[in-house]
Amino acid sequence: MTERRVLLIVGGGIAAYKTLELVRLLRKDGVAVRAVLTEDGAHFVTALSLAALTEDKVYQDLFSLTDESEMGHIRLSREADLVVVAPASADRLARMAAGLAGDLADAVLLATDKPVLVAPAMNVRMWRHAATQRNLARLRVDGIATVGPTEGDMACGEYGMGRMAEPVVIVEAIRAALTTGTRLAGVRALVTSGPTHEAIDPVRYIANRSSGKQGHAIADALARLGATVTLVSGPTALADPSGVTTVRVESARAMLAACEAALPADVAVCAAAVADWRPAEAATAKLKKKGKAPPLALVENPDILATLAARKKGRPRLVVGFAAETENLVANACAKLAKKRCDWIVANEVGAGTGTFGGDDNTVHLVRDGAAEAWPRATKAEVAARLAERIADHLAGRRA
Ligand code: CTP
Repeated sequence: MTERRVLLIVGGGIAAYKTLELVRLLRKDGVAVRAVLTEDGAHFVTALSLAALTEDKVYQDLFSLTDESEMGHIRLSREADLVVVAPASADRLARMAAGLAGDLADAVLLATDKPVLVAPAMNVRMWRHAATQRNLARLRVDGIATVGPTEGDMACGEYGMGRMAEPVVIVEAIRAALTTGTRLAGVRALVTSGPTHEAIDPVRYIANRSSGKQGHAIADALARLGATVTLVSGPTALADPSGVTTVRVESARAMLAACEAALPADVAVCAAAVADWRPAEAATAKLKKKGKAPPLALVENPDILATLAARKKGRPRLVVGFAAETENLVANACAKLAKKRCDWIVANEVGAGTGTFGGDDNTVHLVRDGAAEAWPRATKAEVAARLAERIADHLAGRRA
């Protein structure tokens, strides 16, 4: 296995002293670490300590003459498998959320196409502040992973949430972020995600509340196991997962066409919340108010899952559907599986109060072979990772 490489951005904050231990643990794990020390970080740890522990040069200036010729910010991120920010101060999170490029750390984070993991550390009130939480939410949508913070005594004498996660915990998160398996190497996967938009006229459309988080996480999880993944996504605010071919579409019909164009596939996972109906005729010009609401005649959209499952030629070996249900979850999912002739159904509760639509967590049952397996409530990323493992077991002929 080639050596894994982490680019570690050491931000400002007393927690920076723990970052030295983090470097030591990573080096012990065989991970190459290259450090960017921010101006604030340099108040707490020295470049010399970092250089000694990383056994590499430490980078500090955006406009350094020598660094720019030897190793500019683009190369720094290109030559890493993962970028880690520890500690990530409230200021750094705000700068990242805004896409600023004022110092070397900012510029690396803006230029990188590698996964990014941040370990926030700050005073409890700064952590709880609406602005910080807003920035974090934005960063999560942008595909940035977080580890910690935790609750405890703070250097400022207060107690609460905001302590940086312990180095051993950050190492675990880094290990997970760097793990790319090969169980699905050579497997072609097709995933649908997000809502569809069905045009009423050039400015209006019918849509639904799907965020695409679960479907995107599944595409990401399959790619992490080595599958070649095509993600066909309706309109979402999410970043395209790295290492995945993403095809963006608007309507159900465009989604079906993109799916068929992506075949052949060994496995298809239909996680999109496809609009069941579309306006019979989309007006070519914006509809004007004429004192009376226009009638809206609807026609049924093609069922992408059922169409893929019914294919005589080129049917994926495993076709997995989702069933969003508000009641009789398992019974409705079993009926849906039979009706659409797919192989598995992931049934999820989407009733009011579940927080599933748009949220980060999901409670699902895997329905297959007439039986339902309840999975514990977990993040959508965890549900995706578990599903990807089940798919790998199935294709390998093993029953999990
Ligand atoms: N699906 C699809 N194409 C459609 C409608 C649904 O591919 N036109 C897929 C979804 O991606 C999901 C599964 O079918 O995998 C079930 O979606 P769901 O909305 O739960 O079921 P519907 O068929 O829409 O039935 P209902 O809304 O009546 O429950």
